[in-house]
Amino acid sequence: MQNSLIGFIGAGNMAHAIISGLINNGTKHNQIKISDTNEALLSLRKAEFNLEIFTDNTKLAAQCNVIVLAVKPQVLSSVCKVLKKKLTTNTLIISIAAGVRSRDIERWLGGNQAIVRAMPNTPALLKQGITGLFANEQVSSKQKSLAENILNSVCECLWVDDESLLDAITAVSGSGPAYFFLMLESMTKAGAALGLDERMAQKLSIQTALGASMMASSSEDSPQQLRNKVTSKNGTTQAAIESFQDQNFEVIIAHAIRAAFDRANEIGIELGNDE
Ligand SMILES: NC(=O)c1ccc[n+]([C@@H]2O[C@H](COP(=O)([O-])OP(=O)(O)OC[C@H]3O[C@@H](n4cnc5c(N)ncnc54)[C@H](OP(=O)(O)O)[C@@H]3O)[C@@H](O)[C@H]2O)c1
Repeated sequence: MQNSLIGFIGAGNMAHAIISGLINNGTKHNQIKISDTNEALLSLRKAEFNLEIFTDNTKLAAQCNVIVLAVKPQVLSSVCKVLKKKLTTNTLIISIAAGVRSRDIERWLGGNQAIVRAMPNTPALLKQGITGLFANEQVSSKQKSLAENILNSVCECLWVDDESLLDAITAVSGSGPAYFFLMLESMTKAGAALGLDERMAQKLSIQTALGASMMASSSEDSPQQLRNKVTSKNGTTQAAIESFQDQNFEVIIAHAIRAAFDRANEIGIELGNDE
């Protein structure tokens, strides 16, 4: 990272989270540059991080050896087409845009470009994210570790060799936070139906999810072993688990994750279908 100049195209929520993670981890202010169409937002970022700002993406790109594409997926093709043929082949592109395939990004940029695709999830905004990473053939091992260092500032990183697995990662962890929010909503409603004050039911549910996640992530036991340990024979937990199983809980989850996977695949096709 020492000699890298990292340019962010798009100064929104994700760029903000990654830049603050990088600066906390010791990246110098003058190694990071940022570009956006929104001048008011750029001024905010400059005031917070003391970074060089640009309203012209090509000027930013000309100065950086790593470019993080942090715009919405729908504008990515137009952003890339403006950069077409203006990058050196040594420039590493990191795209965090959901769904857009590396071959489409490479095509829009004019070909022969090192591209890493990341699929971070929303907890990255709190530096608690997890992301899948995929590198195309042009990415060197040095560029792979550079990409991993950048994403590591907000996420745990897991590499895949097959880009289509990013759709599976999207279905499990990319969309995953919303599944847990739904579970929290349902537990809150169920607690309130039993007479608890709704805010109390919500607090009980959220803290339980947090505690259970921390137990699962710090324990050597699998989630199934942890569940078995807290499920006493003929106890309250067993009654609830049996009710979940009677309603085919596992099948419900499997169908939902498959639906997200199929949609991720469709979105990738739609976003690349620009000719
Ligand atoms: N937020 C998350 O938790 C999350 C998680 C995983 C992946 N992602 C991905 O991360 C990417 C960024 O998400 P975000 O939440 O940070 O979005 P965001 O807050 O909307 O930021 C995107 C920024 O890009 C600007 N922009 C639009 N067109 C531009 C252009 N041609 N050149 C330069 N900047 C331009 C936007 O300006 P305007 O608002 O004026 O258009 C906006 O300030 C998305 O592709 C998303 O799929 C986000």
